[in-house]
Amino acid sequence: MKTLEWENNKLKLIDQTKLPDELTYVYCNTYQDVIQAIKNMTVRGAPAIGVAAAFGMVLADKEGVDLEIAAKEIKASRPTAINLFWAVNRVLKSDNPLTEAIQMYNEDIETNLNIGKYGSEIIDDGDTILTHCNAGALACVDYGTALGVIRSAHNQGKKIDVICDETRPRGQGARLSVWEMQEENIPVKLIPDVASGYLMSQKMIDKVVIGADRIANGGVINKIGSLMVALAAKRFNVPFYVAAPLSTFDKEANIFDTTIEERDGDEVRYYGKCRICPKGTEVINPAFDIIPSDLITGIITEEGIIKPL
Ligand code: MRU
Repeated sequence: MKTLEWENNKLKLIDQTKLPDELTYVYCNTYQDVIQAIKNMTVRGAPAIGVAAAFGMVLADKEGVDLEIAAKEIKASRPTAINLFWAVNRVLKSDNPLTEAIQMYNEDIETNLNIGKYGSEIIDDGDTILTHCNAGALACVDYGTALGVIRSAHNQGKKIDVICDETRPRGQGARLSVWEMQEENIPVKLIPDVASGYLMSQKMIDKVVIGADRIANGGVINKIGSLMVALAAKRFNVPFYVAAPLSTFDKEANIFDTTIEERDGDEVRYYGKCRICPKGTEVINPAFDIIPSDLITGIITEEGIIKPL
């Protein structure tokens, strides 16, 4: 299963807003379709957004749109995951957008397999691993970063149990990570977001492995709620790992200078179709948070495990 595919001059995407109930696809015929798909999270997860954006540039090229203009518009679709900017810039600098996008597509799979290989070294037989959000195949072209580490350890025959938190408000943990694990018969349990601290205090979690949207000096940005998990892990001495490709690094920047995306308040006001607060309630809905480096045990990359910046 691939999260995205270039098929008959169109970008085919798994519609992640429909999972886990329906595995359906949407087709992007224009670069504006790709922008919409990124904005409404039909495709999401830093590496998947990056590769989708690269194919968005390919579509813009085919439509005869000025690539500098298309690049600006695509980059404005979601502000936080650096892979989006990295991918668009890479296509801009290339001689052939399609060849470059296909290369990035193939590299993404290779990279994740290597993250899985290095990451599996930190997983012991019998571990229970907590993950937050979805840094799986669905967040990449295939295989995944954090879930790639888990897949790799599982494929080596290690007996592991996975715990996914729900990841309010969009439910990527409950909807997507649980689904991915069940598809491969990897033992998985779902917990409410608010339960991970308690589980760590009870020694029910051996390690935390999550993905990243941006890594820079001072820390790591990942899905909102990651910071709370990291704080609890530090308090209860649970090793806390981030798994991410080198394309997620911004070595020149300070992590605290990054724009954190603020999403529509209705994501919080509603649970599915059900409103859970008085009408018109004011909401704060940041999509990501920043984990300071001192809370992070190590960063698993395709070239090995490193210390946070
Ligand atoms: O808002 P999302 O679903 O795009 O956020 C995704 C995450 O935060 C992932 O953990 C991150 O992109 C890493 S994916 C390998």
